[in-house]
Amino acid sequence: MHIERPSAQQQDYANLASKLLCERYGRSPLAYVHSFGCQQNLSDGEKISGMLAQMGCNFTDSPEKADLVIYNTCAVRENAEDRVLGNVGALKPLKKQRSNMIIGLCGCMMQQQQMADKIKRSYPYVDLVFGTHALLELPQLLYQRLSGQSRQFSTADSDGCIIEGLPLRRDGTIKANLPIMYGCDNFCTYCIVPYVRGRERSRLSSDILAEAQELVAQGYREITLLGQNVNSYGKGLEEQIDFADLLRRINAIEGDFILRFMTSHPKDCTPKLIDAIAECEKVCNHIHLPVQSGSDRVLTMMNRHYTIAQYEALIAYARKKILDVTFSSDIIVGFPGETYEEFQQTLALIKRIGYTALFTFIYSPREGTKAASMEDPVPYAEKSRWMQELLAVQSQIREQQQAQQIGRTLRVLADGEASESGWLSGRTVSNDIVQFAAPKQKLGSFVDVTIERALNWALFGRLSETK
Ligand code: SAH
Ligand code: SF4
Ligand code: F3S
Repeated sequence: MHIERPSAQQQDYANLASKLLCERYGRSPLAYVHSFGCQQNLSDGEKISGMLAQMGCNFTDSPEKADLVIYNTCAVRENAEDRVLGNVGALKPLKKQRSNMIIGLCGCMMQQQQMADKIKRSYPYVDLVFGTHALLELPQLLYQRLSGQSRQFSTADSDGCIIEGLPLRRDGTIKANLPIMYGCDNFCTYCIVPYVRGRERSRLSSDILAEAQELVAQGYREITLLGQNVNSYGKGLEEQIDFADLLRRINAIEGDFILRFMTSHPKDCTPKLIDAIAECEKVCNHIHLPVQSGSDRVLTMMNRHYTIAQYEALIAYARKKILDVTFSSDIIVGFPGETYEEFQQTLALIKRIGYTALFTFIYSPREGTKAASMEDPVPYAEKSRWMQELLAVQSQIREQQQAQQIGRTLRVLADGEASESGWLSGRTVSNDIVQFAAPKQKLGSFVDVTIERALNWALFGRLSETK
C-alpha cells in the first residue's frame, strides 16, 4: 500500500498560504471546521483543522464569526446531503456581507462528480471543493485561491492511499478516534461509501501503535479504533497481522484507558476476535455489530454475506465468552423490495437480541449503487410507519433494560458536563449514558456510579467511590 507524507512542496504551499491569509485578514484568520457523518469523517476533520492550525489559523465555533468555513461532508443518505446543502446555503448572505470570506467543501459528498458539478454550477460563492482523496492538497488549493486564481476543484477519483504525518488538531481531550484503515471493499448494494472512500487499506501496525502510545501519554482515556470494517484489518499488509492481534497489542500499552472499535462487519467477525475482546481487559464489552435486516433474503439482496443463523451464532458465542457483553446495531428499513413480513423478521430479531442501541435508517437510494436500480414499490409513507413500529418496539426493550440497571454500581468515564448544573455526564463500558452530581475535576476520570433512576436515553446516579 502506498503511504504518502506531506512533501516539502506541500510545506511550501502551507507557508505561502499562511502568509497570504495573514495579509488578507491583517491578523490570524479564524476558521470554522465542521464534519458531518461518521467518526472516520470527524477524524479527517481533525486533520483539516491540523493543517489550518499549521497555516496560522485560530478556531471559532460559529460560522458567522469565521473567515474560513470548511464543511467536511457526508453522502451516506439523502437527508445527510440535504443537511449539508442547507448549511452551505446559509453561508450565502454571510459571504455577501464579507466578501473576503473563504468557503471550502470537502469529504464524501464532494467525491461524487455530479455533486461537485452541482456546487460548481449552483453555489458560485464556494471557493474550494476537494474530495476525500485530496486532503493533502488543502494548502495548495487554498494558496491558489488566495493568490487570485479561480475557484479550486480537486475531486479526481482514486483507489486512495494512506496519508501519515499530517498535523492533527483533536476535537477532545478525553476521547480520541484512531483510524486503523480506510476505504471499503464490501459494496453492500445500498451503500455509497466504497465509491467515495476508495479501496480498503490498512495502516501499518507500527504507525497505529505509535499513535495509540502518544494518545495514552497525552492522557486520553478512551481510544476508538476506526474503519468501515475493522475485522478485515491487515489484509494486504506485508506483516502477518489481523484485527485480533492488533487489539492485543494496543491493549498491552500501559495506562488507564479503555478501547472501543467500529465498525465491525458480522461477516468477518471471528471467534478469534471474540476471544481477544474477552481477554483484553481494556477492550469494552460492547460490540457494534450492524445486522441491517432480519431477513436472509434481504441480506442477500444487500450483499452482506451472512445469514441470520450465522449472526445469532456469533452473538451466542460472544455472550458465552465476554462477561456482560452488550450489542448495538444499524438497521435499514424499507430496502428495495422488502416486504412487511420481512420487516417483521427484523422486529423479531431485535426482540431476540435485545440491543442496547439501534441506529435506524429508512432506505435512501444512492446514485450509482446497485440497489438504486432495484424495484422499490413500497411508498415512503409506508416505510415511515414501519419505522415507527420498530422504534416503539426498541423503546420498550430499552425501558426494561434501563430499569434493570437501578441499584447497580457501574464504572463510568466522566466525559462532559450535563445540562443540569453541578452534574457530569459519562459513558459506561457498554456505552450507556450516565449522569451524576460531581465536581468538574472528575472530568476525564473513571468513577463508580450507583444508579438510582433510569430513563430510556440515560441513567442517573450517585457517585459512590472514585478510582
Ligand atoms: N461500514 C459500516 C457502516 C457505515 S454507514 C457497516 O458496514 O456497518 C452507516 C450505516 O448507514 C450503515 O450501517 C447503514 O445502516 C446505513 N446506510 C448506509 N447506506 C444507506 C442507505 N443508502 N440508506 C439508508 N441507510 C444507509
Ligand atoms: Fe457501506 Fe457495507 Fe462498506 Fe459498511 S461494509 S461502508 S455498509 S459498503
Ligand atoms: Fe458519510 Fe462518508 Fe462516513 S458517506 S458515513 S462521512 S464515510
